[in-house]
Amino acid sequence: MKNNGLILGIESSCDETAAAVVRAGGEALSNVVASQIVLHQDYGGVVPELAAREHLRNVVPVVRAAMEQSGVRFSDLDAVAVTEGPGLAGALQVGILYAKALAFGLGKPLIAVNHLEGHIHAVVMEARQRGDSAMELPLLALVVSGGHTHLYLASESGQTTWQYRNVGRTVDDAAGEAYDKVAKLLGLGYPGGPWLDGLAPFGDPKAVPFQFHAIQRREDDRRDADAGARFDFSFSGIKSAVLRYVKSEGMQEAAVARANAIAAHPGLKPADAASFCDPKALGLIASFQSAVVGVLMKQTFAAAEAFGARGVLVSGGVAANRELRRRFLAEGARRGLPVAFPSMALSTDNAAMIAAAAWPKFLAGEFASEGMSAAPQLRLG
Ligand code: KG4
Ligand code: ZN
Repeated sequence: MKNNGLILGIESSCDETAAAVVRAGGEALSNVVASQIVLHQDYGGVVPELAAREHLRNVVPVVRAAMEQSGVRFSDLDAVAVTEGPGLAGALQVGILYAKALAFGLGKPLIAVNHLEGHIHAVVMEARQRGDSAMELPLLALVVSGGHTHLYLASESGQTTWQYRNVGRTVDDAAGEAYDKVAKLLGLGYPGGPWLDGLAPFGDPKAVPFQFHAIQRREDDRRDADAGARFDFSFSGIKSAVLRYVKSEGMQEAAVARANAIAAHPGLKPADAASFCDPKALGLIASFQSAVVGVLMKQTFAAAEAFGARGVLVSGGVAANRELRRRFLAEGARRGLPVAFPSMALSTDNAAMIAAAAWPKFLAGEFASEGMSAAPQLRLG
């Protein structure tokens, strides 16, 4: 069979319905994302039932738009790839059922992709697109988003595919989740990451001294003889510390006023909200961000050193953070270790990363079985 290297990717694990056509894991011919942010904004977080219903409404037009923009005919596709998990069960199921039906109807193979591996391959795809030399393995990958804060050691397995070993994870909240909760507490918009990112430069990062303590290993980790060195995270402590600070400094009323002021200015850019923030709030924001980026950096580079990684890769929604990018790059340069990020557009959820991650699986003939279904708790490594 003639192989065009064309894969249609579909992603519906959380609050973005996305479709993209990617050639040979390295060239995105289209990348369409329908965000549900506006829908969930009023709730300050993703509502699973609403998300599934919205995916149902969006999946057909989004796939159609991705096909049209790519200029590729359905019959020229080599495979259909879809996110298997982790994510919201109902949301995942919409993408999977649609992808299955499409693959079946076209007589093309279906490829199941782990969302976390997708985030990693967003970076690999863009490196290929730029014509950079292949990233040297082993790589230490930090996947940091609203649902995940995971460290993986990626190494080669087989000719085309990679294998992953989880060497760190959050034991409670994800870093993005902490951003979202702190932003909400301060009366800022949803999702919180871009707001705190935009406002942090206006505050003093030393205003509030936050500390992270070493993570106690859990029983099940201790029993795991293979566990080796671990580089876990915990973000619930800093979230509680922010809450305590807000209460003890009497900042609640100002937060309510700020939320109202922001609601009265639709389309306001995060940095422009600085005029609604007093120095105390700005100091808290800057200190929170500085502490979170600091602990992400500390654990990532410690793990890279412990496992002899030849490079660091950061992906997921929080990888869009400007302070994180600046400090990771500076630390990488200091250590002589290459650090790679996806472009801003491919940091948050998209389907180009799913189609890109499917490419090595296509080459290896790793296709999904007919019984494949949503795996909300799917792990990587
Ligand atoms: O990868 P993503 O789109 O979806 C998940 O898989 O979770 O990540 C969304 C998360 C949200 O928590 C959001 O607040 C955070 O990424 N985020 C950021 C920034 N942009 C998005 N966090 C910090 N700084 C940003 N600039
Ligand atoms: Zn994601």
